[in-house]
Amino acid sequence: HSRHPINIAIDGPAGAGKSTVARLVANALQYIYVDTGAMYRAVTAVALERGIPPDDEEAVGRLAENLDVVLLPGDEGQRVLADGTDVTSRIRTIEVNRNVSRVATYEAVRTKMAEAQRRMAKAKGVVMDGRDIGTHVLPDAELKVFLTATPRERALRRFKEMGDQANITLKQLERDIAERDRMDQEREIAPLLRAPDAKFIDSTGRTIEQIVDEIVEWGRAASRTI
Ligand code: DC
Repeated sequence: HSRHPINIAIDGPAGAGKSTVARLVANALQYIYVDTGAMYRAVTAVALERGIPPDDEEAVGRLAENLDVVLLPGDEGQRVLADGTDVTSRIRTIEVNRNVSRVATYEAVRTKMAEAQRRMAKAKGVVMDGRDIGTHVLPDAELKVFLTATPRERALRRFKEMGDQANITLKQLERDIAERDRMDQEREIAPLLRAPDAKFIDSTGRTIEQIVDEIVEWGRAASRTI
């Protein structure tokens, strides 16, 4: 990779294409991709599996404090471990989708996850996607991107992604996404918002390739100036 690796923060709402774009940018630059949403999802999935009610802030907070969430970058994509158990396929269910934004409002959960994320970015050369990376987790990231798309387009993408798991209508998905946006934007701690110094991309009607190329160019330019 380049001589001066930088950190790249990619924030935005659900379904904007952040994870796809972030993974491809990381590949192009030979950086490590870190999907922070997966960490909040892991806490949520384990809570649900252990019968901890997602609205019990104290119990979920205690769980997060004691749970070892590890992201393993790999060629076939990132794997997520919770206390050593692979939960990768268990964090993308509709049940988790519906509860994760609530779990992500809890201070104890956010503090624990943000610390782990900062550790992962310490050596630089990381592309991290989430909601609060440019504003809160890595305010000094050399490149910040805010990636969004219209709610309709985002729902449509999620709908296609879900494939045969889609026993949910597009309309319902649109409502779920709008509700998640609202919770992510309105929470008190580290809400979803665009950092003043983030570059803004609306991905509606654009190809993934165009967006990836644009960010990779910005990344190369930023690593030349440090
Ligand atoms: O990106 P995603 O859909 O996997 O994120 C799942 C949830 O986690 C999302 O509703 C908000 C939360 N989240 C967060 O609060 N902060 C982050 N850095 C990443 C995700």
